[in-house]
Amino acid sequence: MTKRFGVITSGGDAPGMNAAIRAVTRQGIALGYEIIGINRGFKGLLENAFISLTIRSVSGIINTGGSILHTGRCPEIKTIAGMNRAVRSIKELSLDGLVIIGGDGSLAASHALSKRGIKVISIPASIDNDIYGTDETIGYDTALNTAVESIDKIRDTATSHDRIFVVEIMGREHGFLTADVALAAGCEFIVVPEIIVDLNKLASELKRGKERGKTSQIIAFAEGCGLSSEFGKKIEKLTNLEVRVSTLGYIQRGGRPTARTRILASQLGHFTMNLFHRGETNVLVGITKGELSVMSIKKAIRYKKKFNKKTVKILRNLSI
Ligand code: F6P
Repeated sequence: MTKRFGVITSGGDAPGMNAAIRAVTRQGIALGYEIIGINRGFKGLLENAFISLTIRSVSGIINTGGSILHTGRCPEIKTIAGMNRAVRSIKELSLDGLVIIGGDGSLAASHALSKRGIKVISIPASIDNDIYGTDETIGYDTALNTAVESIDKIRDTATSHDRIFVVEIMGREHGFLTADVALAAGCEFIVVPEIIVDLNKLASELKRGKERGKTSQIIAFAEGCGLSSEFGKKIEKLTNLEVRVSTLGYIQRGGRPTARTRILASQLGHFTMNLFHRGETNVLVGITKGELSVMSIKKAIRYKKKFNKKTVKILRNLSI
């Protein structure tokens, strides 16, 4: 009997999810498997909402953002009853394994399913790049480029008006995206949850920057640090300089995936089906030091990715 594998996208969408679905489907079919796409994340799994994926149904999606399967947050999957229902649905669908494409919440669900005997492989996809076990997540490079392009535009208006800007960047409770965006956009300062900021010191450095002839200064502010609007007000009060706040928001989640994102998604999707074929399951696939890598889901959820403080140092040295 032909083996059947399910593929699901869950949590926040990330550009490149479609390229991963395409790779899973095409490589899965090439290996002789049937591929079932679960609609609307785990919610769809609980409601038995699925479609059969074919070579042609994944045509023309490698360059699109979002997820053709749709995605969503599903609090129910965190409950025992929800998990039991998910296992039942997987059995009713006669799935031999499930590919779960998503971020840390999806990884936790992968772990819970694997503990109940379901064969899963997790593909990391999130703009936050906060998953241990992979140097990069699908969608990260695209979000990075989108944010940098936006800050380049903000720089134009900031310079014309001699203003300080606080730019809020996504990343949940982590500063991975913010740090790389800041370095690539030449921001002067960075505020991330991983580092305590001395507001008075920051204010005096901003004033010194102005005295040194800087016509604009941009503070990259991670959303996990609280309200950027409040932060902006405090900075304005402490510096007596004109401050504006801009929240990049959900534009960071959309758009055409960059070539780098598409390559990563294609490699990981292809790799995933090869692993299933070899009988290797309950792992997170990823990219480590430029090579495709595998880590047990158990280990991936146990450890936290480390924030590289060197990025902040480089940024400060270069933004003189
Ligand atoms: O995890 C991706 C992400 O975009 C985070 O950066 C952000 O904090 C969160 O999702 C927003 O979630 P939601 O789509 O539920 O508003």
